[in-house]
Amino acid sequence: MSSRTLAKRLPEPEDRLPVPYDRRTVARGGRRATDGQIGSPVGSTGCRLVELPRIADPRGNLTPIEAGAQVPFAIERVYYLYDVPGGEARGGHAHRAFEEFIVAASGSFDVVVDDGVHAERFFLNRSYYGLYLPPMVWRELDNFSSGSVCLVLASARYDEADYIRDYDEFVGAR
Ligand code: TYD
Repeated sequence: MSSRTLAKRLPEPEDRLPVPYDRRTVARGGRRATDGQIGSPVGSTGCRLVELPRIADPRGNLTPIEAGAQVPFAIERVYYLYDVPGGEARGGHAHRAFEEFIVAASGSFDVVVDDGVHAERFFLNRSYYGLYLPPMVWRELDNFSSGSVCLVLASARYDEADYIRDYDEFVGAR
């Protein structure tokens, strides 16, 4: 199965408007950073949304992220995706051992995660939420809004040997 096929077999969230910061049920498999589900944020794949501190300031807000506090691993690398053309998707791989933490630093996008059995779609649209991904989770990122920035914190320096880029190989390796 190609990575693009996987993303397409998942349901789309029912709308893309920001929702009030309250508890609500998300229909059709979508989960938003603003859903207020943070009391039970661990999904079936072991990925989880983490609410980050917000230091509100009339001059502009600030959100800190610290290893061992909001992120359960030592941060060895930071990278970010930007200037993603409309309709494009990123990801399409799993990591054998690396952990990652994904933040919509600006704008919004979806992260589709799949552990080979269960798949979930997370909608990240707030810079004060992050999505933790344990090892051995297939991920695809799509529906990038214009001007969005996807900030990723990773548990290790870049190493192609940690990637699994073929979905069937990923499922077989589980
Ligand atoms: P890749 O991880 O496949 O991108 P994405 O999953 O975000 O779509 O990486 C794309 C290219 O960038 C690939 O040739 C490897 C390179 N790269 C680095 O050199 N260092 C890094 O930290 C990352 C994440 C990628």
